[in-house]
Amino acid sequence: MSWLNIFYHPLWVFSTLLLSFVVRLQRRGPWDPRACTVRLNGKTAIVTGANTGIGKFIALDFARRGARVILACRSEARGTAAVKEIREKTKNDDVHLRLVDLSSLESVREFAKRIIEEEKALHILVNNAAVSGLPRQITKDGFDISFATNHLGPFLLTNLLLDLIKQSAPARIVTLASVNHKKGKVDFSHFQGENLVYHMDKVYNHTKLHNVICTNELARRLQGTGVTANSVHPGIVMTEVLRYYPLYVRFIFNLIGSCFFKSAEEGAVSSIYCAVAEEMEGVTGKYIDSDCSMVLPAPLARDTALAVKDFEVSERLTSKL
Ligand SMILES: *[C@@H]1O[C@H](CO)[C@@H](O)[C@H](O)[C@H]1NC(C)=O
Repeated sequence: MSWLNIFYHPLWVFSTLLLSFVVRLQRRGPWDPRACTVRLNGKTAIVTGANTGIGKFIALDFARRGARVILACRSEARGTAAVKEIREKTKNDDVHLRLVDLSSLESVREFAKRIIEEEKALHILVNNAAVSGLPRQITKDGFDISFATNHLGPFLLTNLLLDLIKQSAPARIVTLASVNHKKGKVDFSHFQGENLVYHMDKVYNHTKLHNVICTNELARRLQGTGVTANSVHPGIVMTEVLRYYPLYVRFIFNLIGSCFFKSAEEGAVSSIYCAVAEEMEGVTGKYIDSDCSMVLPAPLARDTALAVKDFEVSERLTSKL
């Protein structure tokens, strides 16, 4: 007999079972990509930041469905490794790496130019790449690095590829936002790194709000073209988005996260749903939650006048460079 006996108490067993049940329940997805039989043969898809985390699982899913998949990554070494892994797992050799640094408008332009030259069509664009918790830094274009990587870079990329996407209709644009957008604010001076309080995820939250706003405005502009644009919340996911945080933050997050948060594979589901599910055909300008349900985004993301302005400001800032 010792204090260890308390672990054999029925109440302890019961609460453990209850906890694991709750964990399983909140993880269960209503839509299973493996049960979805949609094929993507003859289709081309681009996934940004596809060398790791959610992006890699999205690219893997597309490759399984027979698509030509382009991984748009910044790191050649990590990108090459991901291409190799996806080819091996799916037996689809039509998986390729194209380098892009979304924080640099010049790099985005070069990337888009090459895609337009090389690709006959583009049916799916997934704007997945994002950074969080980066230290304050201004890019050579004069933008805050988080805004450049999470908003202005993907914004420019999408616009430069838009003609190719329209020619390939029906086509889908999926942008990974986050529930964090609800805590974001719109201040156009943020783009240049002004009035930004660098507090943990604050900057990330602002950038995710711009993602939802501009995706909605893009959807409005694309009415009648056969191209849809939606934003998604992947869920609270364990990914390397945290890699710039101090070690102790990552440690705590990982510890709690391994019990309660989604894996990167689970986090990829809502994006895959938007990109391939038959139910999403023709659906546009929506915000899709991590359980694949359509929900309303924050009030700021539903303000049409603000959306027009945000889109125009972003257009102006990205076009002059
Ligand atoms: C960012 O958003 C998350 C999720 O809504 C929230 O928990 C967090 O407090 C926000 N951060 C800041 C600094 O507003």
